[in-house]
Amino acid sequence: MNKINIAIDGPAAAGKSTIAKRVASALDMVYVDTGAMYRAITLAYLEADRPDLNELLSGIHIRLLAENGQRVILNEKDVTDRLRENDVTENVSFVASDPAVRRFLVNLQQQLTEDKGVVMDGRDIGTTVIPDAELKVYMIASVDERAMRRQLDNEARGIESSVEQLKADIAHRDHLDMTRDISPLTKAEDAIEIDTTGQTIEEVTEEILKLAAEKL
Ligand code: C5P
Repeated sequence: MNKINIAIDGPAAAGKSTIAKRVASALDMVYVDTGAMYRAITLAYLEADRPDLNELLSGIHIRLLAENGQRVILNEKDVTDRLRENDVTENVSFVASDPAVRRFLVNLQQQLTEDKGVVMDGRDIGTTVIPDAELKVYMIASVDERAMRRQLDNEARGIESSVEQLKADIAHRDHLDMTRDISPLTKAEDAIEIDTTGQTIEEVTEEILKLAAEKL
């Protein structure tokens, strides 16, 4: 079997992580959620009371553990569950637009994909991190459905939110991610677009597994 990398990009809450995790598990590949890495730096930034980002990066060490999908270890502390909270979500697109932050994380992400066998999800994976990925998927869904899914997700995690607020937040975050100067969210030319609106997790996973089978 060929060793391949799979890049999954798309706007906020389009179902990327859920699907990417399943695809990785079905193919015995490593799953990497790059959004969680940007969120980890955002958490460090908030905890240090918004310092200069360049200085902050010199003291940051991020490690990923492939347990239950992915655990994020920030300076030897497991911060995985903290990363989905509202303060991090509200500030992450600002932190992720910083050139030094992007250089730092893209470098780390590229090291993780060197030996292939990775399913990586994010915003710039197919365009910047692994431009030679064997399979690139661009996943979209309507804002209504994305907000609904995020609401259910939040309920399960015990995080308070309202669907209307989520819709506004998702649209705002997409706007910031699509209009930033460095590697904005955009579909790679050779990516296959999948609209997950009205589709089940199983259906989308199956569709990607079929596409992957052609490359393996
Ligand atoms: O995927 P998730 O919603 O957790 O991503 C959080 C934020 O991290 C995004 O809104 C975006 O600002 C940033 N991000 C990015 N590039 C990636 C992954 C995430 O800029 N590859």
